Amino acid sequence: MGRPWSAFVLSFAWFLSAGLCLAAPDDRFDQGADHRPILKEAVASAGKPLPAASRARLAGDDVPVWISVANQDVAALGEAFSFPDRPVILQSGTASVYEARTGDLPELSEAMHRKFHKCGGFFAHRTLEAAQRDLEPASAAAAAAYTIDQGAIVPGMLSRAQEAAITETITKLSSFKNRYYRSQTGVASSRWIAQRWKELSQGRADMSVSLFRHEGWEQESVILTVAGTVEPQKVVVLGGHADSIAGWYGGSDAVAPGADDNASGVAALTEAVRIIVVSGYRPKRTLKFMAYAAEEVGLRGSRDIADAFKKDGVAVQGAFQLDMTNFNGSAEDIFLITDNTDAAQNDFLAKLAATYTPYKLGRTACGYACSDHASWSKNGFAASFPFEAKFGEDNQDIHSAQDTLAQSGGHSRHALKFAKLAVAYLVEMAK
Ligand code: BES
Ligand code: ZN
Repeated sequence: MGRPWSAFVLSFAWFLSAGLCLAAPDDRFDQGADHRPILKEAVASAGKPLPAASRARLAGDDVPVWISVANQDVAALGEAFSFPDRPVILQSGTASVYEARTGDLPELSEAMHRKFHKCGGFFAHRTLEAAQRDLEPASAAAAAAYTIDQGAIVPGMLSRAQEAAITETITKLSSFKNRYYRSQTGVASSRWIAQRWKELSQGRADMSVSLFRHEGWEQESVILTVAGTVEPQKVVVLGGHADSIAGWYGGSDAVAPGADDNASGVAALTEAVRIIVVSGYRPKRTLKFMAYAAEEVGLRGSRDIADAFKKDGVAVQGAFQLDMTNFNGSAEDIFLITDNTDAAQNDFLAKLAATYTPYKLGRTACGYACSDHASWSKNGFAASFPFEAKFGEDNQDIHSAQDTLAQSGGHSRHALKFAKLAVAYLVEMAK
């Protein structure tokens, strides 16, 4: 996306495959983003590691390179790599560029590893220009990665969205006594989601549904995958929590319909899945729809999944969270949660709404890690969370027996807007 990662990694892949710990700041340096998924992705797309013969030849070369290092790491490294005396070629508020030779890199890599006990901290560039680009502000580069050009198919897909289909899903899900993560109805409700998603994707060989089991409780998360046709390794995540809770302690006997929190989010996502199928839409990148278990008890289901994706180096392009979509409590239609989310992706969503919908957008903060989007952002993935109202003007009946569809007027007109935004997002992200 805008950066010649694969070109770079091709020529330096031997460092990685030689077992050295070569890692580097990425173009989101200022935000402290973890670069490793990008590197991994670049390695994957660059093909297999170089053969041993090429590695040996490259390792024997000693050619000039420019390395960019975080200023704070330079300070912490002290004398290593002759840093105090090494001339700074370029500098930004967060990073500096130095001249070096490929033969020096193992020494720097080892110093980094000794000091920080992890891979990371510098990036080697073949040209000074490439190093300079690494110092440029993150937002410009990130914003450039989002484009909106699917006007030929998005409006047609949005016109297929049906409020009644969303109402049907909310009604079904809120008919379980509760969807508590430890209760039998909690297990049954998630399996119902899996069954519904299977039904919807019947006849599509590129679509599959699986249960993600968690250690420590019975309720599974549900994952529906639509395999990408061109870049299947790149994954776009759309999720919301399946569980519900009522009262201070929740429990298996509480009546917790969770119609707004969060049958409404799962229902909007389910409608997006239905629209994909009836439109015959096939994404170039892989889509993963997720109904998370155990959100109400500490984001536990989504944390297991996001941690696993991070550990496995899955190239998550973005995560879109729906949690509470059907209570129309504010003047604007959709509020983008500003904390624990990605500013550039949020701006992209605002542009998507302006391009494809008549909806008015607002922004609001939760003030804490209030939903599953935080599990993705904590792992360095760009997450966004479009929400039903300004914080404080949202549904006040959640986490009680009163969280019913009736509290949202008995219809799903508000949730429908979120289903449409989800479709616009996935089409523009998975192209
Ligand atoms: N849907 C809520 C989060 C929410 C509530 C967002 C009101 C905005 C306004 C979510 O299901 C929830 O209840 N989250 C917990 C936090 C979690 C870490 C247990 C919460 O808000 O207490
Ligand atoms: Zn919720």
